[in-house]
Order: sequence, then structure tokens, then C-alpha cells
Amino acid sequence: MDDVATARALHVLAVVIWIGGVAMVTTVVLPAVRRGDIGPNRLQAFEAIERRFGWHARVATVIVGLTGFYMTDRLDLWGRFRSGEFWWMHAMVCLWLLFTLVLFVAEPLVLHRWFHARAVASPDAAFALLHWAHWFLLALSLVTILGAVTGSWGMSLL
Ligand code: HEM
Repeated sequence: MDDVATARALHVLAVVIWIGGVAMVTTVVLPAVRRGDIGPNRLQAFEAIERRFGWHARVATVIVGLTGFYMTDRLDLWGRFRSGEFWWMHAMVCLWLLFTLVLFVAEPLVLHRWFHARAVASPDAAFALLHWAHWFLLALSLVTILGAVTGSWGMSLL
């Protein structure tokens, strides 16, 4: 079972880097950018940080997906997806799909240009919306992590 332990360790490590980054952007970077503490050009400051973090998040998402499906297959846990008791397995996959779509499809193709245009036209409203979206994703991520850590040890939060 060394391979499963290795997959689990990589899974958790990537989750820590990825969701830790989301928490940092939500609770530290965005409030500072919105107040202009990182410089008067808020859009430039935000894009410089988000562009670099975007790559951390993309690499981490791939590792989380590969190790997650590897564990599911190796331990033959597919049956869990037919039971509501394992809601946290559904939550992990849904959250992963959501971030994968945002990071690999929506952001490069649409969101980046859309946000840039909105932030030029109406910066306060654009950054408020962006901050709210980050809080939403962070809240979903924290519930998923709590559900997965307790659920994989047989404890149910719901
Ligand atoms: C493709 C998506 C994913 C799949 C297939 C997947 C699958 C798994 C599996 C099979 C386990 C082991 C469960 C057990 O031992 O009973 C696990 C554990 C875990 N996963 Fe995921 N996962 C995915 C995405 C995520 C995401 C997006 C997060 C967090 C944001 C996450 C966080 C965790 C955590 C915290 C654990 C518990 C580790 C521990 O306490 O040892 N996973 N995952």
C-alpha cells in the first residue's frame, strides 16, 4: 500500500499549496489590492500576483486530480459515488471540476479579458465582485476539506 500512501501524501500536499493560496489571495492580497496598498494601479498589482499564482494552482489541480482518481481506482472506491453518506467524495470531484474549468478554460479564454475590461471601466465594482467570488470558492473548499478529512476517518459532519 506504499503507492496509496504516496498518492495520499501528494494529494494533501497539493491541496495545501492550492487552497492555501486561495485563502491567501482572498484574505490578504485582495483586501490590500482593493485599498491600493500594493500601489495605485490596482489592476496591474492584482494581475502580477494572480498570473504567478495561477500556475501554482494549475499544477496543483492536476496533481490533486491524478492522485485522487488513482486512490479511488486502486482502493476501488467508485461505489461511494452512489451513496449520499459519502457527499464529501462528490464535493471533492465537483470542486476539482469547477477549478479545472475556471483555471484551464474560462480564465484564459474569457474571464481574463472580461475582468480586465470591467476593472478599467468600473474598478470598485469589478474588484468587489472578484473578492466575493474568491470568498465563495474558499468557503466551498474549506467545507470540502473538512468533509474529506473527517469522512475518510469514518466521521460524518452531516
Ligand atoms: C478529482 C478529484 C478528487 C478525487 C477523485 C479525490 C479522491 C480522494 C480519495 C479517494 C481520498 C481518500 C479517501 C479515503 O481514504 O477514504 C481523498 C482524500 C482527501 N482529499 Fe480528495 N479527491 C479529489 C479532489 C480533492 C479536492 C479538490 C480536495 C480539497 C480541496 C481534496 C481534499 C482531500 C482531503 C483533505 C483528503 C483527506 C486526506 C486525509 O485525511 O488523509 N480532494 N481524496
